Amino acid sequence: MKFCITTPIYYINGEPHIGHAYTSIAADIMARFKRLDGFDVHLSTGTDEHGIKVARTAKKEHMDVEKFSDIVSQKFRDMSNEINMSYDDFVRTTEKRHILSAQAFWKMLKKDDVYKNVYSGWYSAQDEEYIAESDLDENRRAPSGATVEWMEEESYFFRLSAYQDKLLDWYEKNPDFIAPASRRNEIISFVKSGLRDLSISRSQFSWGIPVPVDQENENKNELKHVMYVWIDALTNYITSFGFPQDKAKVSEMMSNCTHIVGKEIIRFHAVYWPAFLMSAGIALPKRIYAHGWWTNDGMKMSKSLGNVVDPKDVIKRYGLDTLRYFLFREVKFGEDGDFSEKALQNRFAYDLANDLGNLIQRVLAFIQKRNGNFVADYNMSDEDRSLFENARSIIEKMRPAMDKQDLHSALNTVWDLVTEANKYVNDMKPWELAKTDVNRLNIVLTTLCEGIRSIAFGLAAFMPDTARKIFDFINVKGDRFSEISENFTDQHFPQPSVLFPKER
Ligand code: MSP
Repeated sequence: MKFCITTPIYYINGEPHIGHAYTSIAADIMARFKRLDGFDVHLSTGTDEHGIKVARTAKKEHMDVEKFSDIVSQKFRDMSNEINMSYDDFVRTTEKRHILSAQAFWKMLKKDDVYKNVYSGWYSAQDEEYIAESDLDENRRAPSGATVEWMEEESYFFRLSAYQDKLLDWYEKNPDFIAPASRRNEIISFVKSGLRDLSISRSQFSWGIPVPVDQENENKNELKHVMYVWIDALTNYITSFGFPQDKAKVSEMMSNCTHIVGKEIIRFHAVYWPAFLMSAGIALPKRIYAHGWWTNDGMKMSKSLGNVVDPKDVIKRYGLDTLRYFLFREVKFGEDGDFSEKALQNRFAYDLANDLGNLIQRVLAFIQKRNGNFVADYNMSDEDRSLFENARSIIEKMRPAMDKQDLHSALNTVWDLVTEANKYVNDMKPWELAKTDVNRLNIVLTTLCEGIRSIAFGLAAFMPDTARKIFDFINVKGDRFSEISENFTDQHFPQPSVLFPKER
């Protein structure tokens, strides 16, 4: 079974920060979970390099825009590697394959849907978005707070107004298309309020993909247009699926595709993109999931306030898996969250070092005291069965949550098992059984090893390095979830190391 998942492609006008890392780690967790569950996964990410915003930033830095793009795009690739993102493709919109794909896509739009006119109105370069007069706030700024500038130029338009009913019909027939529900409602009321045709090209600057009809035009005196950066950027998803070569394969991948996006860009993905795809005759994605925004100690993160959290810094101090854990345990995916050092320290000390770290240490160090030799025994009593069965069914419990992008509930399920296993150690007191009843001891240790192995499987998508270490402590190859149901046999465990050392 195919499972495709995408992150937005990142603007390269600034350095990668925790907000970008958040979207990418979320998509990575979903991709890893599906891979471990036996799916054929394609995870794509990349950089959005054209447009007026990037052109101006490069100019401000006194750099040639191509060179500037190479440097900053590389920083996003580095970030993807630093957060252990298992991407299958990294699309740069300046790559030849993408330029050809975006141009082919433009040509596939229904002829009647594209026409030339003059655009006059407000534009926010920061958001790369046209802003209606009625959407300006009292300071005459865009809803995001960005400044706007007046634009008046010849432009190609896309007949978005013709798609209002088709989109509403699609949302109704596909109730899971947009999530969470609050975003779905927001989009439905936006579309119901009436759609205006969308300007899809710019003619006053050149840092973009040439509109193919203009490029091929013989008349040298005619004004040349480049594509509006959003139509260029959205096409990256199908570029990654091999468009325009095998159109049937592209449609198959699209219909199994989930787009993960931040809430501020849901309109582009849930309104404009489906309308473009309908016009071009390409299948729509399966689902679009919008997550919330992180603030820092209650304040919006911004370069000018100097309070942007750098993921590299958190990784250096707490370790990568602590970051990956924190982001999805602290806040329900889909809602806004606040990043604070205190909250991070608490999660590290209580959940990771204490609950998880101690469980692994106390059980496996105990087995070490017995020279690391472990004799499995599955003659379980009712009290053992409860933990054993919860352990064996962990993936079944996580699946429905993961399929709804509810990463938070999935992670809570793992923690319930950690708590249950810790309580079981306290109740069963293996250190006493060692003196009184070695048969019972073997059963208790078997049950605990089952618990530990399942915890590692449950964590494998969220905290891949930690899961790998635990698997190594208990001789599990740890490839696919299907391994979870193998019985332990008699074996020798290596010495476990401390998973979450307090001093880094
Ligand atoms: N280039 C467009 C996307 C084009 S996709 C066809 C873009 N880029 S972006 O770099 O501005 O943002 C990309 C992602 O980073 C978004 O999903 C956004 O939500 C996320 N974040 C940026 N700052 C964020 C926070 N402070 N908190 C959470 N995520 C935020 O938009």
